[in-house]
Amino acid sequence: MTETSAPIPSPEDARRVACVGAGVIGGGWVAHFLARGYDVRAWDPAPDAAARLRRLVDAAWPALEQLGLAPGASANRLTVTATLDEAVAEAQFVQESAPEKLDLKRNLLAELDAATPAGVVIASSTSGYPMTDMQTEAVTPGRLVVGHPFNPPYLIPLVEVVGGERTDPEAVRWAARFYEAAGKSVITLDREVPGFIANRLQEALWREALHMVASGEATVHDIDRSITEGPGLRWAIMGPMLTFALAGGEGGMAHMLDHFGPSLKSPWTRLAAPELDKALYDAVVAGCDDAADGRTIADLVAERDRGVIAVLRATGRLPGAGAT
Ligand SMILES: NC(=O)c1ccc[n+]([C@@H]2O[C@H](COP(=O)([O-])OP(=O)(O)OC[C@H]3O[C@@H](n4cnc5c(N)ncnc54)[C@H](O)[C@@H]3O)[C@@H](O)[C@H]2O)c1
Repeated sequence: MTETSAPIPSPEDARRVACVGAGVIGGGWVAHFLARGYDVRAWDPAPDAAARLRRLVDAAWPALEQLGLAPGASANRLTVTATLDEAVAEAQFVQESAPEKLDLKRNLLAELDAATPAGVVIASSTSGYPMTDMQTEAVTPGRLVVGHPFNPPYLIPLVEVVGGERTDPEAVRWAARFYEAAGKSVITLDREVPGFIANRLQEALWREALHMVASGEATVHDIDRSITEGPGLRWAIMGPMLTFALAGGEGGMAHMLDHFGPSLKSPWTRLAAPELDKALYDAVVAGCDDAADGRTIADLVAERDRGVIAVLRATGRLPGAGAT
């Protein structure tokens, strides 16, 4: 990175992490990094933050033990600091998880930039702000990236990584490698997309759900059950694209698009439908072929079915679960 003035470890060798903002997500990050064997310093301005954080880590720890702790991992390797400066002074990576308010993020990221050793990557957990909008006040914005997690960060593997207009691409690469080394599953975006990938999808679903509640078309309970007893079971195994490719039977996604593509324009959704032109059609079919990675439709059906059964068994919803 251009602004580097002190040796920065390789992403795989970084051992000291600072978590700034230690609520639901920051605390979840703390638990994750501790379980992966990092030394963690945390800072949060709330008067009860330290006690809250300890409670969160204690509550998460049994699950983390079940998943398997990294060698040397210990909840005792957490230090809650009295100041932001102490938290980041020796950090080799910083994860910011403060409230989702643009001005707060702008000022905090500038403060972190000033206090963190040169060249150390600083990632924001933001759920949707583009880094371009958040890095405006920082003196060295090149090391600022988005590292968007999912709740709880110690169990859900995905992190979406993306830079802003003034982010050094090397910082994006460093962050992606760091998260991988820390046991996360990383998607790196090559451009800024509001809401990134997963929240854009979640928001579309959520918007429809809220429409249905507001108009009395469905209850909150029915909406949740419609997912947990329905598509959600499949989505834990395959994403919406391959799931729909299987809905096309032996014809896969091509048949699915021929069959149901026209209904994209039906009033099933309140969102404007994309034009299903040839380029989009081809991209979706080819993307499904890529994702299948040589597996036939029959292979994918068997894989999906095994996976759904495993999820049902794991969540105690498999008839006769516990009998074996
Ligand atoms: N909750 C989710 O499911 C979720 C998922 C992904 C990303 N995020 C993102 O993570 C970030 C944190 O969200 P959360 O759900 O943990 O919120 P939260 O309200 O649980 O926690 C925010 C924490 O930030 C602290 N804080 C307040 N002002 C601060 C400051 N100036 N500097 C540092 N810390 C400060 C608060 O005391 C609080 O402990 C947000 O950017 C949010 O969009 C949330």
